[in-house]
Amino acid sequence: MSEPKIEVLFSTDEIAARNAAMAAEIHASGFDDRPLVVAVLKGGFVFAADLIRALHGAGIAPEVDFMSLSSYRAGTTSSGTVTVLRDLETDVAGRDVLLVDDILESGRTLAYAKQLLLDRGAKRVALAVLLDKPVRRVAAIEAEFVGFTSPDLFVVGYGMDMGHAYRQLPYIGHVIVSN
Ligand code: IMP
Ligand code: MG
Repeated sequence: MSEPKIEVLFSTDEIAARNAAMAAEIHASGFDDRPLVVAVLKGGFVFAADLIRALHGAGIAPEVDFMSLSSYRAGTTSSGTVTVLRDLETDVAGRDVLLVDDILESGRTLAYAKQLLLDRGAKRVALAVLLDKPVRRVAAIEAEFVGFTSPDLFVVGYGMDMGHAYRQLPYIGHVIVSN
């Protein structure tokens, strides 16, 4: 079997332009100008790192915290059970929270996280996701801010992995396995 090839779906430049536009959309939506950004690990870390710098360009000065969530996966689909592997250090009560993750797929992971933050008293929880795969949705949840609508393919790069590989790619791609 030869080395897998990666087909580029969204280039580094396209992602950077979209991040700047999303930051402007977030600012225009009337978000608190000192919100709490909650980056969901691991997949959301590259997007969150770029988005907070784009938010700076839009005049927003966020606080940043991290949450590690695991939705147990069998192969490439999630099972629906979500566990908090690393919790926030910040009290979210009364805060405007921007929950940032890589992909909204079934929606189970982010539906769980959003409800958890609301239960803890967050004033507002808005979702910013790099990719939306609407055809895969199971939970009743939509993101207020979406980078790109993704084709129904397993994607890698820009923080997203396949078997712990490819997170370092500076673009979003699709792995083509050929024999
Ligand atoms: P959901 O709970 O089904 O919405 O799961 C979304 C999570 O599954 C994302 O945050 C990713 O960590 C992971 N995931 C879903 N689709 C992909 C993909 O195409 N590539 C890499 N990770 C994915
Ligand atoms: Mg994830």
